[in-house]
Amino acid sequence: MHITLPSGKKIPCEPGVSILQSLREEGIYLTSSCGGKGTCGKCRIIIQSGSADIQSTMKLSREEIDKGYAIACKTYPAEDLVIDMPKESMLTVDGKVATGKAEDLLKLFRTIGADLSPLTERLTLQLPPPTLDDNISDLERLKRELSSKGLGCLRVPFRFLLGLSQNARKENWKITLSTIHSEDCHEIINVFPGQHPVPQYGIAIDIGTTTIVVYLIDLSKGILVDVASTYNSQIRFGDDVITRIVHATEHHELKNINRAVISDINELVLLLAENHTVRLDSIDCLVISGNTTMTHFFLGLDPSSIREEPYIPTANIFPLSYAGELGITLNPSIPVYSFPCVSSYVGGDIVSGILATRMHEKEEISIFIDIGTNGEIVIGNAEWLMSVACSAGPCFEGSGIRHGMRATNGAIEGVKIDPETREVEIRVIGDEARPMGICGSGMIDAIAEMFIAGILNQKGKLQPETSERIRTGEDGTEFVIYYGDGKDIVLSEPDIENIVRAKAAIYAGFTTLLLEAGFSFDDVHRIYIAGGFGKFLDVEKAVIIGMLPELPKEKFEYMGNTSVTGAYLFLLSRKMRAEAEEIARKMTYLELSISRSFMDEYMSGLFIPHTNIDAFPVVKSLMKQ
Ligand code: FES
Repeated sequence: MHITLPSGKKIPCEPGVSILQSLREEGIYLTSSCGGKGTCGKCRIIIQSGSADIQSTMKLSREEIDKGYAIACKTYPAEDLVIDMPKESMLTVDGKVATGKAEDLLKLFRTIGADLSPLTERLTLQLPPPTLDDNISDLERLKRELSSKGLGCLRVPFRFLLGLSQNARKENWKITLSTIHSEDCHEIINVFPGQHPVPQYGIAIDIGTTTIVVYLIDLSKGILVDVASTYNSQIRFGDDVITRIVHATEHHELKNINRAVISDINELVLLLAENHTVRLDSIDCLVISGNTTMTHFFLGLDPSSIREEPYIPTANIFPLSYAGELGITLNPSIPVYSFPCVSSYVGGDIVSGILATRMHEKEEISIFIDIGTNGEIVIGNAEWLMSVACSAGPCFEGSGIRHGMRATNGAIEGVKIDPETREVEIRVIGDEARPMGICGSGMIDAIAEMFIAGILNQKGKLQPETSERIRTGEDGTEFVIYYGDGKDIVLSEPDIENIVRAKAAIYAGFTTLLLEAGFSFDDVHRIYIAGGFGKFLDVEKAVIIGMLPELPKEKFEYMGNTSVTGAYLFLLSRKMRAEAEEIARKMTYLELSISRSFMDEYMSGLFIPHTNIDAFPVVKSLMKQ
């Protein structure tokens, strides 16, 4: 039997194997946030012809079922099929030149006074050709030359010897070495004949639980050349780190989970290199920043004890690894640095974020919050740093929300509701004519606007008499944000409940951390917000829903993806590398899962904006009586 894809390609299939699985075997990945359990509804396909055994239609509307929609993980072919795969179901790579971002990064790099000292450097040498009187081996000749330049210590991987003889003779004994810089010793990673003209590139990577972002960086100038990103295809093993750890340990999937992230990274790096005609051998170094579990998966380390009390990772500080031993399809000798972590639930992405905000060098007290699949919060200044992790869940990255998606083209990122007419206006990323879903900032906007317009009450319940956009859908009462041709985009009450739970966990994280550190919101000079909200997060709306505290607007700074910004700084500067290690050493971690006050604060936050409305006087004044 065969399944015919939209491209016309035919792939083999079997009756007992789901369509999702058959596609996967051909290297075609659909979004599968629940890992194929049939509960997220993200792996939609449209059956255009042929019959199939459809075992679940969860998350599909009557209208969608009539149009042939099915969820691929619970659909089994009974005969040859022709299917369509909607754009929103595909795990895709979207590379785009980030001109604005590139300027911002360079400005940041210059203003913090970092030295341009990449992790690797190039060294051009003119060796004297051998003679009968000077007949030492090629390697000894090289070592002698380096020693005469004061570079006595040299580590030589065996692989390097394979090309030495030819490369040395090609340009009459002129060679360029690529080496890992170190105070006391140089380690060779590559050799080129002659004066190697190709610029040096490095790769900075943020491995998020939901999204992977890759920066291609020109190491000689510190310039961001381009960005590519994709969903982390580990999503097929579950949305959150715990589900993935269970898959890795109980279902023996560690190798597959590791391969998924490595192949995502390979794909994105190749895409960037191709788009910019960058030779792969001119990429000299990789830096990755991710939470502790993502770093373990990337390195292929057993993450099982991260999940069990007392929550201990294999390592927080990782030794240097090499592309070859990790399966990265670049020069196998290039170094791969992993950001140091703090604990099982405060990882390298947070250390990287602090490095990017610079709060670790300020006198005054600041707070940093990274809202991703989890919410990690850090408070402190130049003297001390204290962190917590609150499990907010992945809803702001699109998972667990019926029409949720990450902040990429086609996502509704802004919503406005006229309080009088209750007309809805939306803003879509990439100005796409037809939105495909709603991302985190759109969800926050929508809930805040519905609340202020009186469409949603404090308990997160929709008020059907207030708007004709409220109707009963597959998941119960829902509000239509966008009427589409065949696919409306809605927020249902279960979606709203998920978002309210997430924002309650984040706010409770703030208040518990402040309490433990002995401070109040008034003592906080600045709140840096990071996360996958794309270019935009309306702080006022986040205050209205009770996710952020009600403080003067100028105290908030939205920083975007600080994990990859920190990786960029780490890649380029020796000073930044030392600072990152110092941040990780200095930061203490507070375990919230055993905190009574966190649970109390969380329960109080399950209202909009909060049970203690007096903590939100401005929101109180905006509320409809
Ligand atoms: S419903 Fe198919 S992967 Fe979640």
